[in-house]
Amino acid sequence: MQRARRPAPARASENARHCNGTTERPDTSRPDGYNRISMKIIVTGGAGFIGSCFVRLALGNPSLEIVNIDKLTYAGNLENLESVANHPRYRFVRADICDLEGLRRIFAEVKPDCVVHFAAESHVDRSIFAPQPVFETNLRGTFNMLETMRAHRVERFIHVSTDEVYGSLEEPLEADEQFPLQPSSPYSAGKAGSDLLALSYHKTYKLPVIVTRASNNYGPFQFPEKLIPLMITHAFDGKPLPIYGDGMQIRDWLYVEDHCQAILKIVEKGRDGEIYNIGGNRSLPNKTVVEQILAITGKPSSLIEYVADRPGHDRRYALSSEKLQRETGWSPRMDFERGLKSTVDWYRTNLEWIAHVRSGEYQKYHDQNYANRNQELGAVVSEPRP
Ligand code: NAD
Ligand code: DAU
Repeated sequence: MQRARRPAPARASENARHCNGTTERPDTSRPDGYNRISMKIIVTGGAGFIGSCFVRLALGNPSLEIVNIDKLTYAGNLENLESVANHPRYRFVRADICDLEGLRRIFAEVKPDCVVHFAAESHVDRSIFAPQPVFETNLRGTFNMLETMRAHRVERFIHVSTDEVYGSLEEPLEADEQFPLQPSSPYSAGKAGSDLLALSYHKTYKLPVIVTRASNNYGPFQFPEKLIPLMITHAFDGKPLPIYGDGMQIRDWLYVEDHCQAILKIVEKGRDGEIYNIGGNRSLPNKTVVEQILAITGKPSSLIEYVADRPGHDRRYALSSEKLQRETGWSPRMDFERGLKSTVDWYRTNLEWIAHVRSGEYQKYHDQNYANRNQELGAVVSEPRP
């Protein structure tokens, strides 16, 4: 493995200054090598939806080098990174974060300055049917990352988490970073546990850990098991659009690139040991989102089908991102209607990508969660489903 060239050792604050994917560019007119790579970032889960967006965005900054560690589960897809696959400042390493020795070898070789930890089992419905992979990756995998960090000190470790850790909030409550944790699903409980573990490594071992908690992301390259891409792809096919329960559950929608810009700001300006909420500032009931997708795709509302609710379904998420905005100046840029339309356009022009990710394993999960929904849910929860 080739080591990147790095300039003379920089202090943490100097490194951090150049870690913004879009705004701050080094002065390439200087003859002293100032334009060379000044921060090497290990990204975990960079072949997934949000991680791949982060990789593409970060490579826009000439002072960043990215090493992407990903196991390539059903959700990891190197097609998401085709545009940067041969980039001189990018490398992919296939590895499982549950393999501690493997991680230690990679870190010893790469010697990163910063880690952005996305890798996780990220789907709530799958976590209900099969909680074990969630435990393994989200808890043990994060533990392994933190243990690796103790041996190979980095200047920043960003643990990417979720607003789901706060659980369901009654109107008009909004969670700030001190809000109690009340996760409902194996997925969100795993994320809450890993958040606390990460923060404990800051308190106990003084590791430079930061936890981010973002709301629901949407945008290109999202695996079509999540609400928005599932509804878009079903609408294209004229298949039923399955709304859980009454469809009045509220989610706060954040465009994926806005999320990644926020993480870059936090790499640059965040404070160790802190938590930062990242909200999209656009709360909508699921039913409204689905109706908007039908309108954009020109499909009839008769395609909507109300199906049995998700067990333990959180009614409403709501976040305050005031701290992040105050400390870094970040705010979401993408307006939801514009973002949704461009997302639909992206899926329309990437039918081959859809066909590839829907082959193989996808169909098995799809049948379990939709075609045989009542029986399958009945088998994992004690009460019979309606
Ligand atoms: P995703 O499911 O699209 O991608 C997860 C990636 O992690 C995949 O590339 C997968 O191959 C990889 N991975 C899984 N297990 C691994 C393992 N054991 N070792 C190495 N790699 C492994 O997920 P996403 O939607 O991009 O979410 C990324 C992160 O952001 C997750 O931590 C998630 O909890 C968090 N998050 C997601 C959202 C959202 O709306 N999608 C919102 C807030 C936070
Ligand atoms: O809030 C952040 C979280 O958002 C992330 O931490 C998770 O990784 C991400 O998956 C997402 O979780 P949700 O459970 O909110 O997302 P999902 O897209 O699965 O569902 C959004 C809402 O839509 C939720 O209320 C359930 C509902 N839904 C979902 C699907 C897939 C349906 O009504 N029908 C469906 O078929």
